[in-house]
Amino acid sequence: MIKRRTFLNLAAGATAVHLLTQCAKRGSRQPSHTNLSNTLQQTRVYQSNAGSLAVDLHASSTYVTFGDRLANLLTYNSSFPGPTLEASPGDTVRLTLRNELDTPTNLHYHGLHISPDVDNVFRNIPPGEQYTYEFQIPNNHPAMTGWYHPHYHLNVASQVFRGLAGPLIIRGDVDRIPEIQQADEAILMLQDIEPIPDPALQEPHPLGKRWGREGNLVLAHGFQNPVVNVPQNGLLRLRLINSSASRIYQLQLKDHPWFLMATDRGAIAEPKELQTLLLSPGERAEMLIPGHREPGEYQLINQPYDRGVDDIISSFGDEVHQMTGVVKPTQTTVATLRYVEGDRPTPLPLPKQLIPVEPLPLPTITREFVLNHGLDSTAESTGFTINAQSFVMDRINTRVRLNDVEDWHIVNNATIDHPFHLHTNRFQIIERNGQPEPLSAWKDTVSLKGNETVTIRVRFDDFVGRTVYHCHILDHEDQGMMGILEIQAA
Ligand code: C2O
Ligand code: CU
Ligand code: CU
Repeated sequence: MIKRRTFLNLAAGATAVHLLTQCAKRGSRQPSHTNLSNTLQQTRVYQSNAGSLAVDLHASSTYVTFGDRLANLLTYNSSFPGPTLEASPGDTVRLTLRNELDTPTNLHYHGLHISPDVDNVFRNIPPGEQYTYEFQIPNNHPAMTGWYHPHYHLNVASQVFRGLAGPLIIRGDVDRIPEIQQADEAILMLQDIEPIPDPALQEPHPLGKRWGREGNLVLAHGFQNPVVNVPQNGLLRLRLINSSASRIYQLQLKDHPWFLMATDRGAIAEPKELQTLLLSPGERAEMLIPGHREPGEYQLINQPYDRGVDDIISSFGDEVHQMTGVVKPTQTTVATLRYVEGDRPTPLPLPKQLIPVEPLPLPTITREFVLNHGLDSTAESTGFTINAQSFVMDRINTRVRLNDVEDWHIVNNATIDHPFHLHTNRFQIIERNGQPEPLSAWKDTVSLKGNETVTIRVRFDDFVGRTVYHCHILDHEDQGMMGILEIQAA
């Protein structure tokens, strides 16, 4: 059954509320890790049970109303964002995806260290068909906040932009630290969408498509400015996932301290206070927010951020901002953090230590990756390039050996930002613009502003096969800013 449509309701109001009609059917609802208030229906959480996580997902088109606006989104199990998947090291996962869209799709497990034969972005699940992914979470997999989303080349931007994405949580060591154990948890997937009833009739404007489409409606876990509870005297662990197609967030928590505790691939050594959190598409951050201030409401703000496209776009005149996929930079409140009474007479402190980040050994090989836009005659494309090549199916761009440590010097020769993402293996950022990187952390996506350079260090652990690296502004990826990496046996 293709194109089944379900209706979702959304009540109007400062804090938007929507009702998912299809939710109470399968699996267990698990409310303890979600504390968004005013939600009539939480996004479902599927947790592994006795070492196994079995999930059926169907991707379909769904109507959702936002105030008086009707949007036609693409959703997993009619849920926006998709259900949360939660597992632990050693668990087996069996996930069946049924494609009820009218275009081919597949799944990518962004952040998971599993074989690229399973997490295979070249797989095609045609409309009307289904596929079952089966794999085990490695026993030594770090705890992290990841996410899943479609990765079928040429359809990635349009499918993610219309809503296809869901959180993927791995539990582990960091979850057993006493203060973390006692923290409340919330997840906010940051998505920007264009609330239109018929996307087929309103394709993004060519400028949006070229530079990366953005939506006028910024949503945090499916809601406009939802309320997230902060337990007074307690700790809130807030997982932030940028699952927007192109938008880069510049986040600030107004008048309230917050502390970074984990990046893309898991915990850092100790909590680190931040003023501003820059989160590019694909990136994740876990923040600790101590409820130690004056009880009240505190706003999580997104400050306008220019990824180098504002001048290019506004040179076409102001009307261009009326076009689908092109937005005017504005400040928005992403979520409101509200103190709620807790049962602690004294404040729960921040943990002093989290998980040490062991530095990788020195590299044996160094390579360069130059990001730019231009003509690649071999790919017959005028698109986006890495080392002057646009993506071609089956063309291997880079060959590496299992267990080798390499430094990748990434050079952004363009004037606009490009977030560089590597599948399968995590990396450490060694330097940026020639300066050593102060924070030691595990990452899988790193954003480069125009004309910046970054050096990342990666070890190719555990898995051979073909995987990819690409720009996570998904329109750029679809226009060729992706390469195939073959990891060969040592
Ligand atoms: Cu989140 Cu290759 O992607
Ligand atoms: Cu990925
Ligand atoms: Cu890019």
